[in-house]
Amino acid sequence: MALCKLLTLLSTIAMTSAGMAVHESRTSVPAGFVSQGVAPANDMLTLRVALTSNNIAGLEEKLMSLSTPGSPEFRQWLSLEEVKSFVQPSSETVSAFSSFASANGLEPTVISPNGDWVSITLPVSQANQLFDTQFEVFTHSDMSDTITRTLSVSLPSELVGHVDVIHPTTQFTGPNTRLAPNSFISLDLDRRAVAASCNTSLSSGVVTPTPTTEKTNTLLVTAYQNEFAQTADLSEFLTLLRPDIPHSRLNTQGPLDAGVEANLDIQYTTGIATEVPIEFLAVGGEDFATSLLNATTFLDGVATPPSVMTTSYGQNEADVGSSMAIKICNAYMALGARGVSAVFAIGRCQLGGVRGAHEAASVCEVNTFMPGFPASCPFVTAVGATQGFGPEKAINFTGGGFSNFFPAPSYQTAAVASFLKTIPSNFAGTFNQSGRAYPDASVQGWNFEIVSGGEVVLEGGTSASSPTLAAIIALINDRLIAAGKPVLGFLNPFIYSTASTAFTDITIGHNAGYVFPASFVAFDAAVGWDALTGFGTPIFSEILAAAMAYQRIRQHLNLGC
Ligand SMILES: *[C@@H]1O[C@H](CO)[C@@H](O)[C@H](O)[C@H]1NC(C)=O
Ligand SMILES: *[C@@H]1O[C@H](CO)[C@@H](O)[C@H](O)[C@H]1NC(C)=O
Ligand SMILES: *[C@@H]1O[C@H](CO)[C@@H](O)[C@H](O)[C@H]1NC(C)=O
Ligand SMILES: *[C@@H]1O[C@H](CO)[C@@H](O)[C@H](O)[C@H]1NC(C)=O
Repeated sequence: MALCKLLTLLSTIAMTSAGMAVHESRTSVPAGFVSQGVAPANDMLTLRVALTSNNIAGLEEKLMSLSTPGSPEFRQWLSLEEVKSFVQPSSETVSAFSSFASANGLEPTVISPNGDWVSITLPVSQANQLFDTQFEVFTHSDMSDTITRTLSVSLPSELVGHVDVIHPTTQFTGPNTRLAPNSFISLDLDRRAVAASCNTSLSSGVVTPTPTTEKTNTLLVTAYQNEFAQTADLSEFLTLLRPDIPHSRLNTQGPLDAGVEANLDIQYTTGIATEVPIEFLAVGGEDFATSLLNATTFLDGVATPPSVMTTSYGQNEADVGSSMAIKICNAYMALGARGVSAVFAIGRCQLGGVRGAHEAASVCEVNTFMPGFPASCPFVTAVGATQGFGPEKAINFTGGGFSNFFPAPSYQTAAVASFLKTIPSNFAGTFNQSGRAYPDASVQGWNFEIVSGGEVVLEGGTSASSPTLAAIIALINDRLIAAGKPVLGFLNPFIYSTASTAFTDITIGHNAGYVFPASFVAFDAAVGWDALTGFGTPIFSEILAAAMAYQRIRQHLNLGC
């Protein structure tokens, strides 16, 4: 008996120390994190393990077929169970992981409705041995808690092909994920002058105050990093700017339960998407990657998902790491297949422009463009920011660029190829030409009047643009549902094909960043799609017309008569 146990132990050790394959590694720790030494051997770690989906390629193919105008199954969005059939791991994968777990005394718990995530709790020493790694404790000056991470993680050979992510291991997402600038701009605004300028510049009517009718059409506002929207602020905002929308003055929150980002997002969705049911999903915690995962696994289990969701939070793609970014992006693919339009703001840092989410302005001077995530995921609709009228131009700190993790999806190759021809030769090495390019579209993002903590202030950034686009999509969905048609769902193939001319093309702007002069290497807006503004800003009436055209080619049965 004892000998048998010993032999099992020996064979496990032999297997793990011999057949290990490096799964993910990084050469250095992202800026801002400082190692405090190796993690204590007896500390307990909870690791989330993504089990490989049985047919993610099939789901991608299906999504493209569902979302491409002209396809026979155009907008025939899938049910929860249909999506699950692609996303759940195969029985071989489940049994490979179960054998590994039981051989090592681990008790996995399934933590996602699709069965593609499990969690295991084990001591640091065992995690170090099983995944051939060395966990360390890291601090970050802006984070109250320490985090346990590592620079490299390996998989035993029996898990290769069955496990996509072990989290947290090499993912270092920092604490500053809100995309709204932190500083307020105090208000000195002549509302009548604004109304007059909007009247002349936006004569085609960007939005319509017509009340909506469809109660199944939900818009979801997501919030991270302990942001909450303040109902008293929302009520004051509506009283000020949309007194025609019925709203309650009931407030159960304390004055501190307010976040600028969440207030901006809730006020511009509620204020534009007249009477569309709006839901607010707040996911707490400092670890952004885990929070994104929590939000997507929650939505995976919701039988009637929102028809559009907006997120104004993001991080440098590189800090999230490729395996986690790909897995989370696949979750947006799954939501898209269920008919959810996932809209994300692209910019992160007031200073960054194409240089992404740097803590220090000095780092922004490095001429390597930093893609941001989740905007770089090809299954979300990424939104940049514009400002001004006559001419409307890209805001100087809007992000944009090309992913290093996701190859360019087919829906955008033609549009992006034209833009690449306009790039000057001194751009060599600054960005990845073969990556998914973003944004897909843009919206005004400057001088948004909001109420926060009872005060009227001006906010700006792609943080303002994303909720505005989501609200416009919700208004269009309302008309579609009223006409008995399916909602827009995953937007990009529609935007890049039939709707590409339903946007005002923005051809002026240079996204070097807020504080950097125009001489800094950055993208320039161009005729057609560009990497600052996408196809430009939406023209409500034209997007509505393209959406209502509803191009589904019915399959005609040839019965030979
Ligand atoms: C907007 O334009 C219309 C037509 O030109 C005009 O009648 C109306 O007074 C204008 N409204 C504002 C707020 O300037
Ligand atoms: C994610 O959800 C789990 C429970 O499902 C919770 O324990 C954890 O704190 C959440 N983490 C974050 C970062 O939201
Ligand atoms: C560039 O993007 C491609 C496609 O996504 C990827 O395979 C490649 O690794 C990227 N290159 C770099 C240097 O990140
Ligand atoms: C960027 O745009 C903002 C808003 O218009 C402006 O205040 C700022 O001066 C601009 N920065 C540069 C370097 O032009």
